[in-house]
Amino acid sequence: MLKFHNFCFIIAILAAFSFIPILYKCQLSSNCYSFQKPEIDLLTFPSSWNLLYFPSDPPPQTLKIALFVKKWPQRSHAGGLERHALTLHLALAKRGHQVHIFTTSSPNTSIPNLVFHLSEPTVGGYLNQTVVWSQFRTQNSTGTPFDIVHTESVGLMHAQAKDVTNLAVTWHGIAYESIHSDIIQELLRTPEEQQAAMVTKKVMRVVEEVRFFPRYSHHVATSDHAGDVLKRIYMIPEERVHIILNGADEAIFRPELSLGSELKHELGIPQNGSLILGMSGRLVKDKGHPLIFQALKEIFMENNRFQQSVVLVIAGDGPWGARYKDLGANILVLGPLGRADLAKFYNAIDIFVHPTLRGQGLDQTPLEAILSGKPVMTTRVASLTGSVIVGPELGYTFSPTVESLKKTLYRVWKDGKVVLEKKGKAARQRGLKLFTATKMTAAYERLFLCMSKEAYCKYPNPFY
Ligand SMILES: *[C@@H]1O[C@H](CO)[C@@H](O)[C@H](O)[C@H]1NC(C)=O
Ligand SMILES: *[C@@H]1O[C@H](CO)[C@@H](O)[C@H](O)[C@H]1NC(C)=O
Ligand SMILES: *[C@@H]1O[C@H](CO)[C@@H](O)[C@H](O)[C@H]1NC(C)=O
Ligand SMILES: *[C@@H]1O[C@H](CO)[C@@H](O)[C@H](O)[C@H]1NC(C)=O
Repeated sequence: MLKFHNFCFIIAILAAFSFIPILYKCQLSSNCYSFQKPEIDLLTFPSSWNLLYFPSDPPPQTLKIALFVKKWPQRSHAGGLERHALTLHLALAKRGHQVHIFTTSSPNTSIPNLVFHLSEPTVGGYLNQTVVWSQFRTQNSTGTPFDIVHTESVGLMHAQAKDVTNLAVTWHGIAYESIHSDIIQELLRTPEEQQAAMVTKKVMRVVEEVRFFPRYSHHVATSDHAGDVLKRIYMIPEERVHIILNGADEAIFRPELSLGSELKHELGIPQNGSLILGMSGRLVKDKGHPLIFQALKEIFMENNRFQQSVVLVIAGDGPWGARYKDLGANILVLGPLGRADLAKFYNAIDIFVHPTLRGQGLDQTPLEAILSGKPVMTTRVASLTGSVIVGPELGYTFSPTVESLKKTLYRVWKDGKVVLEKKGKAARQRGLKLFTATKMTAAYERLFLCMSKEAYCKYPNPFY
């Protein structure tokens, strides 16, 4: 009996030790899939790949990748989709993959492993499909064929994409809004039945998407919410939908006290005095600027102390830039900033304010703020509440109304710097696990490898 106990004990010890390498590698304690499920099929993995651990070793195989993106970003003016394209493909190229970019403009500098194929955009600002497809076919038939075709949104349209099996599309916004039952009814409507009056243009757009999306082989959703919508409402089979959250460059966006002090000094803001709110991005209506403008205007009128103890720093340009200047001397509009200056900006602020009205895609700026160690207050859009600000310990969320926004601004003001700093630290801890460019790149690389060879679809991978 004693012997048997000893035997069991030894087995238990051995079993525990055999998991140690996995445990040791696994960076996430609560969300650690490699420990719970020693081997999973990545293609049907239901949650975001960012939760998984991928080693940073050189890839087992380098890939020839075609990227279709309507614009290659000029650094300081990049919107979300273009920033995603830039961050991801620069990193893939750095890891040795050969990336051919079919787009309408290129940077002036040459970058190793990146080859640009330029074309004139159409009047509508899209890629000219005839031209890019012929450029692609030429490239694909001379030398080695492409292992992977990646399109950022409809860069490559479905007429061309439909028969390409090694293709992944990353959606940065889909038309689905909320009226699920209308869509279902419209899809089920027979030609004899009349279209319901309440079916709006928007819903018809969703229905159109539900019809053409399946022509793309693999789909990458940039938020947990979009992943759910693609599977549930767009009815794309789960093994063709993969969630890979966006990432920002953690080497640029990181806490660095001196950078923040530098900017405050340049702007003449006292180092330890005021509470500093920050906003960045395009200063346009759909980013919520009219909303926060009104909220601040009302607060400044009703509370003198708030105005005297708060500074709002805004990075970016657009029609709302000039209007902010009239709101008060405590509002500083800096114009568009390059990435190095943006790093200073994030380090100077106490909280990042993100009043966006667009629920599509997963915005980059809150991720940059989080990696810089700052909490975020954001509109309750599903991508952000479902994947980024998932609890009050990480920041604040509000409804897109002046009233709700005012309430949250007062709350932030009352909580003060110490509470904000704590939330910022918690947000960064989580961000380092999920929202780094390295994490995003590793997940895409693995997806592309898996699309090119089934063996790479097993996780953890025996090839490493
Ligand atoms: C690239 O070069 C052209 C002319 O050589 C110049 O007009 C343009 O501003 C440059 N673009 C960047 C991003 O440096
Ligand atoms: C695409 O390019 C071709 C060749 O330059 C041109 O004839 C055609 O009109 C363009 N298509 C669009 C939609 O701009
Ligand atoms: C690219 O070339 C390969 C090899 O010739 C071929 O099998 C594949 O169908 C081509 N892809 C496209 C999209 O034409
Ligand atoms: C500002 O506050 C920090 C800690 O919050 C402190 O270490 C630093 O000395 C203060 N600086 C000034 C100029 O008061």
